[in-house]
Amino acid sequence: MSKQWATWSKATAIALAAAASCGSVMAQEKIKVGFMLPFSGTYAALGVAIENGFRMQVAEQGGKLGGREIEYFKVDDESDPAKATDNVNRLIKRDKVDVIVGTVHSGVAMAMAKAAKESGTVLIVPNAGADAVTGPMCAPNIFRSSFSNWQTAYPMGVVAAKEGKKNAMTITWKYAAGEEAVAGMKEGFEKNGGKVSKQLTLPFPNVEFQALLTEIAAAKPDAVFSFFAGAGAVKFVKDYHASGLSKTIPLYGPGFLTDGTLEAQGEAAQGMLTTLHYADELGTPRDKTFRTNYAKNYKLQPDVYAVQGYDAAQMLAVGLKAAGGDITKKDVFRTAIEKATIASPRGDFTLSKAHNPVQDIYLRKVDGKENKKISIAIKGLADPARGCRM
Ligand code: PHB
Repeated sequence: MSKQWATWSKATAIALAAAASCGSVMAQEKIKVGFMLPFSGTYAALGVAIENGFRMQVAEQGGKLGGREIEYFKVDDESDPAKATDNVNRLIKRDKVDVIVGTVHSGVAMAMAKAAKESGTVLIVPNAGADAVTGPMCAPNIFRSSFSNWQTAYPMGVVAAKEGKKNAMTITWKYAAGEEAVAGMKEGFEKNGGKVSKQLTLPFPNVEFQALLTEIAAAKPDAVFSFFAGAGAVKFVKDYHASGLSKTIPLYGPGFLTDGTLEAQGEAAQGMLTTLHYADELGTPRDKTFRTNYAKNYKLQPDVYAVQGYDAAQMLAVGLKAAGGDITKKDVFRTAIEKATIASPRGDFTLSKAHNPVQDIYLRKVDGKENKKISIAIKGLADPARGCRM
């Protein structure tokens, strides 16, 4: 046998063997998951809770999803929309991840959705509520395990009107999440006979609330609606209480105002009513197991952000399992998630056509260090997904 022939046949044999065992080679390769989350700034604790929740679900599945181990990549997005496109491209182009999990901030999430849509990379949003992500920007490869900004806020407006409030002022950060939450509350409130008299804003993530609190005190509305979260929510609720306003004008908002923050807010948050798709101690076996495991693993109580991270991993698991671990089987992956019922600690949910959870929104009341469920404010609420064509 000539030397040239021997080399050729050896190469062919290797190639054929590789092709024959393609499935098992793939199974040995890890699925690359890129976390793009805030690990610094006002939303840092939220990013950590999401990552914790995600990793805990993967661990509960024996460290594998769809038969494949996970390799993690991480980018701190600093909740900075100006850096978002570069940051997401680090994961897509440099690290070549299979799935992006992120983020918290709506402005950053919109840049991520654009990049995911263009590249076809799977994106699971474990918090950011930007209405556009499951509205005009909706796409077959984009999923949300959390909520839309409209979805958690609209019920608060309805509840405030039912509480007999007639005239409300709003206060929030001036960016998509704050603006969309305020629009949702206003819609629910005004449909039920209330009127929003004035909308106050300050730039994200500014926490100099004093001048705006003085304006509220002078105007004396029946209620105040607000969207704040993370460290900003801690400061706002404390400042509102310290100003004396909480004695006469109730402060309402989507539950981010008091979720994961009660340890720091203490007395200032007691008795506050908020609406959200999670509450502490829902009392179901599913939630109890989740809470016990989370507390054991992280020496921390879980919050809504941990739940959303946990469920992002559950959704990924459903898709990967159906696709036999092969995420390039895009239609199988997508259809499986679309058809699934996710057994979340929050309660079971399914996804809307636009890939946003259809879920119960709870009315909660702060009692000590817990957001206790009072009732279901709206059952099985779907975001209207205005502008989604899919
Ligand atoms: C958002 O920017 O969409 C956002 C951030 C923090 C939250 C909720 C929504 O807690």
